[in-house]
Amino acid sequence: MERVGILTGGGDCPGLNPVIRAVVRTALLQNWQILGFRNGWKGVIEDDYFLLDLQSVSGILPKGGTILGTSRTNPFKKAGDVEKVKANFNKHNLRALIAVGGEDTLGAAYKLFKEGMKVVGVPKTIDNDLNATDYTFGYDTALNIAMECIDRLHSTAESHNRVMVVEIMGRHAGWIALEAGLAGGADVILIPEVPIEIDQVCELIRKRHSRGKTFSIVAVAEGARLKAGKVIADEKLDEFGHGRLGGIGQVIGELIENKTGYETRVTVLGHIQRGGSPTAFDRVLGTRFGVKAVELVKEGKYGYMASLQGRKITEVPIQDSIGQLKTVPPEFYEMAKLFFG
Ligand code: F6P
Repeated sequence: MERVGILTGGGDCPGLNPVIRAVVRTALLQNWQILGFRNGWKGVIEDDYFLLDLQSVSGILPKGGTILGTSRTNPFKKAGDVEKVKANFNKHNLRALIAVGGEDTLGAAYKLFKEGMKVVGVPKTIDNDLNATDYTFGYDTALNIAMECIDRLHSTAESHNRVMVVEIMGRHAGWIALEAGLAGGADVILIPEVPIEIDQVCELIRKRHSRGKTFSIVAVAEGARLKAGKVIADEKLDEFGHGRLGGIGQVIGELIENKTGYETRVTVLGHIQRGGSPTAFDRVLGTRFGVKAVELVKEGKYGYMASLQGRKITEVPIQDSIGQLKTVPPEFYEMAKLFFG
């Protein structure tokens, strides 16, 4: 019997379980056995896995997170781990390993592919910052959660005549902040792609209040930075070299309050954006990516990953999705600015 492995790596993301379910259901139709490795690359290094069958994926479609667990383990970090990955791959005589993840997980998958391992990728991230696919699953769910939070902040901002600053995830890309801000009618949106000019932000708020508005909503991406400042991140880095982002909301909030005199509050949405049930869009996209991953294995297209181009699912070399982030184009931000203030 042929065997394939699957892992989910990096930050969890709504839509991972639909991918796992689709992989298992379509691989079973081929009579393949499916090994689910626990906690990303960690599970392959430690040979920690369980067999996935129909029963194990029953009822997981609407569930957030990943039944496989995840981690930010980098197999290229510790000496000997890559050898362990290869040895366990060979021990189970895997036809292929399906790696579901973002830039880091797929980057490791690509390196392993270059070293001869049969790997297929599925792109995942709430940040939507992966090149070579129009959308990743998880993004739509995170976006809708952030939009709903902005909607909710409106009523309390209005009741108290306050400025509400809301800090939104997305790492070094402003997709969630920009689209949630647009959808939720934020009065100013600040993204990593465009350094923040705080005096302009305050001016927009003052003008709005001089029109008779008594409250404002400012959406700020966690990776945004003041023109004169740096991106705010934890000094402690993960195994892929990323510091945890966050804190810009507080900085902006204090500056706005001090400079305008308007009472200001800060809300950090944090992991709420990653939790809970995936939207219909993310369930369907995850399902289509899972089916595509099995097709890629069937066709022996190793080193490739599933991708959404327009409305079509297609395949692209994993290499195309790593190295450079997909950030918000300037013209999109310019359009959003029409609604500021
Ligand atoms: O990449 C997804 C993401 O949620 C980012 O938006 C955020 O910066 C990061 O992960 C948070 O990582 P962690 O869950 O490790 O704190």
